[in-house]
Amino acid sequence: MKVLVTGSKGMLAKDLIPLIKAEHETFFFDINEVDITNKEQLFDLVSNVRPDIIINCAAYTLVDDAEANREAAFHVNAYGVQQLALACEEFKSVLCHFSTDYVFDGKSTRPYLPDDEPNPISVYGESKRAGEVFVQSILNRYYLIRTSSLYGKHGDNFVYTILRLAKNKEPLRVVQDQRMSPTWTVNLAQGVMQLISSGKFGVYHFTDRTGAGISWFEFAKEILKTKGLSNQIEPAVSEEFSRPAKRPAYSVLDTTSFTLSSGYEPMPWKESLRRFLDTI
Ligand SMILES: NC(=O)c1ccc[n+]([C@@H]2O[C@H](COP(=O)([O-])OP(=O)(O)OC[C@H]3O[C@@H](n4cnc5c(N)ncnc54)[C@H](OP(=O)(O)O)[C@@H]3O)[C@@H](O)[C@H]2O)c1
Repeated sequence: MKVLVTGSKGMLAKDLIPLIKAEHETFFFDINEVDITNKEQLFDLVSNVRPDIIINCAAYTLVDDAEANREAAFHVNAYGVQQLALACEEFKSVLCHFSTDYVFDGKSTRPYLPDDEPNPISVYGESKRAGEVFVQSILNRYYLIRTSSLYGKHGDNFVYTILRLAKNKEPLRVVQDQRMSPTWTVNLAQGVMQLISSGKFGVYHFTDRTGAGISWFEFAKEILKTKGLSNQIEPAVSEEFSRPAKRPAYSVLDTTSFTLSSGYEPMPWKESLRRFLDTI
């Protein structure tokens, strides 16, 4: 297949592109080469390359900054995604796009299914939801993959933050009242490779396997344990940290349909973490 990747310098893209290159004719562009909000540039590119599939890794991902920069978040996550969907429609490409657990409000008491009603509680979540709506209303042939709490070698993320804080030898306080499923970008990249060869279009959820989810506190404890670090760590509640964007209290995603369509079984979260820590 001819595969075109946008946002090629992002954390997920950097783990995904080598896998695509190994199997497909690959074209990849960062924001300086192709800005997904630049309609003319985007349509020229897609018209020249004529990809079978566009994998959109471009996004505005600054969750807290988005609260004060609504327009900037919507410009990329909604308008940019709309342009991508329109380009796919025009040039008959499939679109693979990523969204987030933050489209949900966190009130569920069981893992969210792809068909559950989104109700974002942050500007970032709203902007990502707007992008989803454009994809679903413009296209029939799309993979829309919601994922959660990504960490990987090539971007700033929670694992790096904990390791950085641990160096200061101060006691750590980490929230225990938000449950989620962390996801290693390498696993997501492998899952995506299998899903895009399935031809089974639709909305999917992909995370590492946690069962009923874990708290950020449990995740941080496991990071320290796996690295053999003996820092003191205490559970905290979200109100202790004043952050501009609200986070859902519960954002565990049900990945069953992803596995059924792609054949990819999510890796248990502790194993993913151990493997990731071995690579850095
Ligand atoms: N990270 C997470 O925890 C998480 C969780 C759930 C879902 N997701 C979703 O997963 C996807 C990948 O996330 P990620 O963490 O890999 O994101 P990332 O590291 O922030 O990468 C996004 C990339 O998109 C680029 N970009 C921004 N605006 C653009 C534009 N107008 N045109 C082209 N490129 C543009 C960014 O460039 P600059 O850096 O120069 O702006 C960056 O290289 C996103 O859709 C995100 O919403 C992420």
